Amino acid sequence: MKRLGVNIDHIATVRNARRENHPSVISAAKFVIKCGADLVTIHLREDRRHINDTDLKILSNIRSIPINLEIAANNQMLKIALKHKPKYVCIVPEKRREVTTEGGLNLRKHKNKIKKIVKKLNEKKIRTSLFINPNIKDIEISKFINTNCVEIHTGKISRQIKANRSFKHELRKIIKCTDLATDLGIEVHAGHGIDFKTAKVLSKIKEIKEFNIGHFIIGESIFYGLNNIIKIFKKICR
Ligand code: PXP
Repeated sequence: MKRLGVNIDHIATVRNARRENHPSVISAAKFVIKCGADLVTIHLREDRRHINDTDLKILSNIRSIPINLEIAANNQMLKIALKHKPKYVCIVPEKRREVTTEGGLNLRKHKNKIKKIVKKLNEKKIRTSLFINPNIKDIEISKFINTNCVEIHTGKISRQIKANRSFKHELRKIIKCTDLATDLGIEVHAGHGIDFKTAKVLSKIKEIKEFNIGHFIIGESIFYGLNNIIKIFKKICR
């Protein structure tokens, strides 16, 4: 059974469109947990385009909701994470102009900086994860960094699956990384672009312990409701 993290950033996007408080991000977090999500993922972007500091503050105080906070790798975001102490933190790359997180971290370039951030988070007993592309070198560097988990960016394989193109090569890469990470004692998660089809393919990799899914869940819920969509993903996770 894999854990299901539901990313609710897009609830905040809809709310922010009116600059008021509907739909409520807090109610959404409570609701997705009630529907069976194991954790709630939020990305506090540096430009605060969806989730904001107040959301984080309120959500962090509801200890019954396990929060997976995604942050960029810098001291300002680290300070915020240490202040609110979410259960989990995932470090992600961030570019101001991107519409979404386009790829994994550049670990070769930033490994020393990220290692320091991970150490500070681990000292506060916050589970750490790094959002990475599926390549072996990044798994090795993740071991050097001493992260608890890695989340493999599944954007490429999900695009291939959705377009009915061959995805075997990408799947092989993901499996190799998952095997190595597991051997090294790093827990593996997967996220980005996951829909039902991609989740079904990736669910066969038993070493992947957690999915983090946002856009498809929120988009599909317009037609079928959050409760139903989460239930389907939970079934796939089994
Ligand atoms: N995991 C991480 C680390 C992310 O940054 C995101 C959002 O880009 C997701 C999962 C969810 O991706 P999506 O919204 O495509 O499901």
